[in-house]
Amino acid sequence: MSHPPSRRDNKVVDGRWSLLGTTALVTGGTKGIGHAIVEELARFGAAVHTCARNEAELETCLKKWEGMKLNVTGSACDVSLPAEREKLKERVASFFHGKLHILESTMWEQQFGRHPQITPLRTTDMS
Ligand SMILES: NC(=O)c1ccc[n+]([C@@H]2O[C@H](COP(=O)([O-])OP(=O)(O)OC[C@H]3O[C@@H](n4cnc5c(N)ncnc54)[C@H](OP(=O)(O)O)[C@@H]3O)[C@@H](O)[C@H]2O)c1
Repeated sequence: MSHPPSRRDNKVVDGRWSLLGTTALVTGGTKGIGHAIVEELARFGAAVHTCARNEAELETCLKKWEGMKLNVTGSACDVSLPAEREKLKERVASFFHGKLHILESTMWEQQFGRHPQITPLRTTDMS
């Protein structure tokens, strides 16, 4: 009996779902929904940068993702602190040469409103 292809099968078989060449910032990527989003975007081929406050947990996740051959980098950052958010923005702009395609933040918009310079799912010049 044949089954319809699963979403995971489609990733491999159907190039329409590829995110190769795109960049993503996912805040809070060491746990919970942020962690799942990091892995999903990276599995689709996106270059992902993530952050969390706990540096040791972040390092553990980065090692795991490296072992999975996923293109994920990370920075320790508390996004509730404006100065740290600015540093994160600078690091992300540097990593991705000023181009961010996807912003996924489970905290950012709730706490700080829409980021004026980043439009999710569209290429944005961060310089
Ligand atoms: N889980 C779900 O299925 C789900 C679904 C829909 C919406 N949400 C919403 O998504 C948010 C996260 O939920 P969760 O269940 O995924 O939480 P969680 O398991 O506690 O994970 C939160 C993540 O965010 C990081 N984080 C928290 N505060 C931070 C800060 N100030 N700066 C940087 N990183 C920070 C945490 O790492 P550190 O502690 O090291 O900073 C961790 O990586 C909540 O607002 C929740 O309502 C969750």
